[in-house]
Amino acid sequence: MTTMSSAQPPAAALPAAGLPAAARPTVADTTHLRRVFGACPSGVTAIGAVVDGVPVGLAASSFTSVSLDPPLVSVCIARTSSTWPLLARAPRIGISILSAAQAQAGRQLAARQPDRFAGLTWHATADGAVLLADASGWLDTSIEAQIPAGDHDIIVLRVHDLDASHDIHPLVFHASRFHRLEHI
Ligand SMILES: Cc1cc2nc3c(=O)[nH]c(=O)nc-3n(C[C@H](O)[C@H](O)[C@H](O)COP(=O)(O)O)c2cc1C
Repeated sequence: MTTMSSAQPPAAALPAAGLPAAARPTVADTTHLRRVFGACPSGVTAIGAVVDGVPVGLAASSFTSVSLDPPLVSVCIARTSSTWPLLARAPRIGISILSAAQAQAGRQLAARQPDRFAGLTWHATADGAVLLADASGWLDTSIEAQIPAGDHDIIVLRVHDLDASHDIHPLVFHASRFHRLEHI
């Protein structure tokens, strides 16, 4: 079993669900929503493809496995994303599961800069899926379905090829910060 290694603040008791809402922020408070959503840790992925000859992509923590048969995964992409419309034109989309050594890559792939892959070591498959070197795992995918869901779209992706190493520990995103795993 593993846990996150960063020091934990003293546990404060949470008010129970069902208590008067006046005592705590409500679902209408987006800062509160982000804080609660961010309490559930996730991995961090790099979503990328070569489009018009250049690598484009973004960091996404919403990656989730969906189905074994057929093999499907999903990511949720903000409808405001300027990068997704480019990626959506690509026949194949690469998903790299970032390692604990790739926190800086995670930041760079979310930054407002023209070439998010600058200085990173990556390669493209024959169909243009962009995969980062030294990641904990990778998947070569294509878009299966795109489902509107509020201010995001749920993107369902079919997996064509994949591999991973459990010896390369993943990067973990929790409470708006990057962490690494440790055994307990
Ligand atoms: C750790 C991390 C996780 C992120 N996860 C997502 C995500 O799951 N979905 C999403 O749409 N954007 C996510 N983002 C934001 C994107 O990486 C990127 O900043 C955003 O798409 C804005 O750029 P764009 O307009 O080029 O798309 C994440 C950013 C960070 C730093």
